[in-house]
Amino acid sequence: MGTWSLDSWRSKPILQQPNYPDQAVVDSVEATLARRPPLVFAGEVRSLREQLAEATEGRAFLLQGGDCAESFAEFHPDKIRDTFKVLLQMAVVLTFAGSCPVIKVGRMAGQFAKPRSADTETINGLELPSYRGDIVNDINPTVEARVPDPRRLLDAYNQSVATQNLLRAFAQGGLADLNQVHKWNLSFIDKSPLGEKYQTLASHIDQALAFMDACGIDSANTPQIRETNLYTSHEALLLNYEQALTREDSIDGGWYDCSAHMLWIGDRTRQLDGAHIEFLRGVENPIGVKVGPTMQADELIRLIDILNPENLPGRLNLISRMGAENVIENLAPLARKVKSEGRQVLWSCDPMHGNTIKASSGYKTRAVDSILKEMKGFFEVHNAEGTCAGGVHFEMTGQNVTECIGGAYQITEESLADRYHTHCDPRLNADQSLELAFLIADTLKTSRGR
Ligand code: PEP
Ligand code: CO
Repeated sequence: MGTWSLDSWRSKPILQQPNYPDQAVVDSVEATLARRPPLVFAGEVRSLREQLAEATEGRAFLLQGGDCAESFAEFHPDKIRDTFKVLLQMAVVLTFAGSCPVIKVGRMAGQFAKPRSADTETINGLELPSYRGDIVNDINPTVEARVPDPRRLLDAYNQSVATQNLLRAFAQGGLADLNQVHKWNLSFIDKSPLGEKYQTLASHIDQALAFMDACGIDSANTPQIRETNLYTSHEALLLNYEQALTREDSIDGGWYDCSAHMLWIGDRTRQLDGAHIEFLRGVENPIGVKVGPTMQADELIRLIDILNPENLPGRLNLISRMGAENVIENLAPLARKVKSEGRQVLWSCDPMHGNTIKASSGYKTRAVDSILKEMKGFFEVHNAEGTCAGGVHFEMTGQNVTECIGGAYQITEESLADRYHTHCDPRLNADQSLELAFLIADTLKTSRGR
C-alpha cells in the first residue's frame, strides 16, 4: 500500500458516485464543509472502539439500527425520538433478557447516501437516473429532480447536526433513564403481543430498580441508570463528504472521520484497490464492512489486513449479509478462516439486505420470517465454529409502517400499501424490531451460557 493521505483515495478507482454537472460548486461545498464543526469528538470514537473490543471478545453485543436512508421529508423530532425509543427498548431486552451489555449505534445523523444496483431506473415508463439518497438527488420521478445537486451535502450535514444534537439531549437529559422503561413503549404497540411482553419485562426492571433504590443506588447518584450513550454511524459512500469532516486529533495526532463515530463500507464498494478501502484505512474510527455472498475467504483476509494491520480488537466489524437461505453455507468458511488466521474481528449480522424481495404488488419488501431465520443461522454458524456472534445490524423505524411482511400483526402483501414510507429499503416497524430483539435475547442467553 502507498502512503495514506486525506485525499489519497482520489487517485483510486471509485464506484457509486454522483455525476455532478458543475465541479466548481462541488469544490466550494467541500471547502465550506471542511470549515464546519465536527459532529463527534475523537475521544468518543476511542470509547466506542474500546467497547467494540469488548464485543469482539464476547463480553458485549453491538446493536446497530436505523433507517435505510434518512430523508429530508421525514426529518421530524418525533421520528428521531421514536427510533431512539425503539433502540432503547431493544437494548433493554438484550441487556435484561439476554444478560449482556449492549452497545447502541444508530444508523442516524448522516445515513443519507445510497449505493444503487443500476445507474438508471424506469418509473411509469420513464427512464431516470437512479435516486441515490437525499444527500445526492431528489426522489421525485422527473429528470430534473434526479440531477445531483452538491448543495444537498450541506443540507444533509445540517440535518445530521440537528439530529445528533437531539440524540445527545435524549441520551443524557432524562429520556433514557431506566426508570422510564414503561414510557419507551410506543402507544401503537402497547396492546400488541410484543408490547405486552415488553411491559412484563419492564415491570421486572422496575422491581430491580426499586430493590437497588432501597440499597441506596438510584438515578440521582448513579449515572448509568440515568443516562446512556447512543453512537452514530452511516455508510461512508460519498468520500468527499467524509474527507471534509475528517480532522486531526490534537491529543493523539490521529485522523478521525468526525461525521460519525463509526463508518461502514457497503458490499458494493469494498474492492481491495478501490477508493473506499483506501480512505477508511487511514482513519482511526471503528470501521464496518458489509460481507455478502460473493466474498471469498482469502480476499477477506487481505481486506482485514489492509483495514486493521495491527490486528486490534474494536477496529473492524464484519457485517455478514448473506440471505436466510445461504447464511450457513456462505458464512461458515469465512468465520473458520478468520479464526484459523487469528484475526480479531467483530462479527455482526445484517439480516435485512440478503432478504429483499419484490411483492406481486411491486413493493420491495422483506419477510420477518426470513430476517429471523438469517439471524438464527448466524448464531448457529458461530456456535459451530467456536467464534463469537457479536452484534446485529438492521433497518428499522419507530413509526407504525407496513414495509416488511409478517410479524406479530401479520402484515400481508396486500397491506404493504397502507403505510409504506421508506425512501429506500423496507424497514422493520417497532413491533417487528422488538420481536427480533426477543429472539436475539433468547439465543444470547443460551449461547453465552448465562
Ligand atoms: C445498506 O446497509 O443500506 C446497504 C446498502 O447495504 P449493503 O451494502 O449490504 O447492500
Ligand atoms: Co438498505
